Amino acid sequence: MKIDLLHKPTEYMETVIILQEENGDIDKLEYLPEYLQNAINIVVKQDDFHFKYGSLKSFPFIRSRKRTNIILCGIGNPKELDNDRFRNLIAISVREAIKIEAKEAYLFTGFKNPLSELHFGHMLAEAALLTEYRFNKYLSEPKSSSLQAIHLAMDFKNPHMFNRGVLEGRIFAEATNLARDLVNEPANVIYPESLAEVAKKVALKYGFSIEVFGLDKIKRLKMEAFLAVGKGSKKEPRLILMSYRGNPDPKANTIGLIGKGLTYDSGGYCLKNCQGMVNMKNDMSGAAAVIGTMAAITNLKLKVNVLGIVAACENMISGSAYHAGDIIRSMSGKTIEVVNTDAEGRLTLIDAIHYAISREHIDEVIDIATLTGAAASTFGNQISAVLTNNGALLNKIQSASEFSGEKIWQLPLYEPYKELITSEIADLKNTGGPFAGTITSALFLQEFVAGKPWIHLDIAGTALRDKEQGIYSYGATGVGVRLLTQLLRELE
Ligand code: BES
Ligand code: MN
Ligand code: ZN
Repeated sequence: MKIDLLHKPTEYMETVIILQEENGDIDKLEYLPEYLQNAINIVVKQDDFHFKYGSLKSFPFIRSRKRTNIILCGIGNPKELDNDRFRNLIAISVREAIKIEAKEAYLFTGFKNPLSELHFGHMLAEAALLTEYRFNKYLSEPKSSSLQAIHLAMDFKNPHMFNRGVLEGRIFAEATNLARDLVNEPANVIYPESLAEVAKKVALKYGFSIEVFGLDKIKRLKMEAFLAVGKGSKKEPRLILMSYRGNPDPKANTIGLIGKGLTYDSGGYCLKNCQGMVNMKNDMSGAAAVIGTMAAITNLKLKVNVLGIVAACENMISGSAYHAGDIIRSMSGKTIEVVNTDAEGRLTLIDAIHYAISREHIDEVIDIATLTGAAASTFGNQISAVLTNNGALLNKIQSASEFSGEKIWQLPLYEPYKELITSEIADLKNTGGPFAGTITSALFLQEFVAGKPWIHLDIAGTALRDKEQGIYSYGATGVGVRLLTQLLRELE
């Protein structure tokens, strides 16, 4: 989809989208031809349409046998227009344009814009491209978006900044949609080896470096916790290492981004039920977020050094699967009693984290994982849980969250609950029982971060949507890509 500034108003417009403030005056819209102003004024009066926030009115207007689709969208009070609202309004109007099969839309805004030109361009492009996304490749008759262009009819003092914003928004959206594609692919298509192959293609396309370790190398590294989870599957595990170095300063920090990469989670011998299993092809959403973020930061040429790691495997049952009750020795040397084979994500993550710290010498750890159903129960599908040992990182990620619209809420790393993950016969056990599951899973991870500044994101609730809403369609949200990309911009 093309998104640009309209320099000359054209005689004929196939589709116009009008974002207007509450009770705003249509006649004040620059560039909008008078005959359209008149037509709109009549409908607005007739239907008592007030342009309240999020309201929509869509109708055709025919003149000299040519049809113009008119889409009116209310922005409410322009003072309340923030990134979230603006993205949502773009989503509402673009969704309508796609519904009526518009090809070329002209966007008019009738309000004093509180967003900067850079912001406006970013949010417009990001929201339009996220809204247009559909995972339709397996449909015999795919319904794709018809919309090829949005021309913005607006006089900017600084069109250059707007265009830069569009470029950035495009990078954010493209990386998010890449992650959505990876997550939406089912487990018969995306398994550890094929995930690594896709990651290699992404690396080649965007220009970051990548290395993939197979079974032998993982065994030599003694990543036994990771290996234990994957050994019930016929599909071999892969350790995917992605590196982007944008800061040549030898003293610069390297940030480790670690994504949970369970390409399928049946639960293992502590088997999930059918309902709990059907979405478990999405248990690599953290991995997808890391791959997408690597693409975005390379594209943006950020001045940061990042190591992305995915320990990819499948949690299955078979004669070679790990058992409930097994005691395993993680790469760090700490032993773990497996009291639940379905608490597998943390076992893969701790070996990836330990590897990143001990072998790759990363200075800060950010992990992202569909780790606990409890995070979904607590925060629903719009807020991810964040747990951290570092106040400065928390501030940064909170501001990244405000920018990106990916909501987060902090849970405590409450020390006394460590008792819940102690074992009589090993250093730790892999679950803390039914209560405070998101907290105890993070406390488990914390044992392996060696005191480094660390953020844990639990995206079990936010990785998927079961219906379209705002910029999201059915399926993967690509959550994490925009949040982490913005966080890395703030760490630049
Ligand atoms: N991948 C699941 C978590 C999950 C659940 C993600 C629902 C998305 C939606 C994870 O591996 C898991 O099974 N966690 C268990 C942990 C429990 C056994 C301590 C859970 O949340 O039930
Ligand atoms: Mn599980
Ligand atoms: Zn899982």
